[in-house]
Amino acid sequence: MPGVLELSDESVMLRAPRKSDLDTVCDYWYRSPRTFLTQMGVDAKKLPSEDEFRGKFVRDSEQLIPDAQRESCTLIIEYRGVLIGYHKLSHILYGQHGIFHAHIMKSEYRNKGVGGFTYPRALRVYFDRFNLMKVIFKTPAQNVGPNRIKEKMGLKSLRQEKTDYPLHPDGMIVNIYEIYREQLDTLLKSK
Ligand SMILES: CC(C)(COP(=O)(O)OP(=O)(O)OC[C@H]1O[C@@H](n2cnc3c(N)ncnc32)[C@H](O)[C@@H]1OP(=O)(O)O)[C@@H](O)C(=O)NCCC(=O)NCCS
Repeated sequence: MPGVLELSDESVMLRAPRKSDLDTVCDYWYRSPRTFLTQMGVDAKKLPSEDEFRGKFVRDSEQLIPDAQRESCTLIIEYRGVLIGYHKLSHILYGQHGIFHAHIMKSEYRNKGVGGFTYPRALRVYFDRFNLMKVIFKTPAQNVGPNRIKEKMGLKSLRQEKTDYPLHPDGMIVNIYEIYREQLDTLLKSK
């Protein structure tokens, strides 16, 4: 069980996914307690089959799709060489925007500052790699952690709406946040 984490650019790495990450990622999605997924704001019934998920993850990890045509991009989070979570940008429109996601898969690494540390760094990678104007967050209103992270990043919910995100339960309320490149630059300078 890790105690206080020492978060730095040496101890925390964001890297491309590998096939060897797949079992951990699948355990998170397909073998976590249902109540965990519900609290996060995911309807387990809407997950693709595990085989479908595995196929997509492998295609993503092969990095064969040119960035201008990519729909999504995963960045694995490692702490001192241990795979602890990942960020993902989905619904990518190259040169425009994408939707940001975060999963600290290992529960013992949650609520220890990892998200606060990696959100801005992963956003930097996505802005640069996909030449984005902005990144969008559709954050389940009932999920305290990810809303708190946006607040700590100085972002305010622009509005609440009924979700249209495929994995969310029908009718769930999400907070919509957006961050622009200049805002991220300012945020990273202040760190
Ligand atoms: C949400 C998540 C990415 C946040 O990352 P994290 O590393 O746990 O968050 P941090 O430790 O950086 O916390 C940042 C702030 O949020 C707060 N926070 C984090 N998780 C919280 C929770 N479950 N309940 C209340 N506050 C929480 C922290 O206390 C901290 O605020 P503080 O500095 O004022 O104390 C992570 O907890 C996670 O992956 N959870 C499960 C999956 C999930 O919910 N993903 C988001 C889907 S939208």
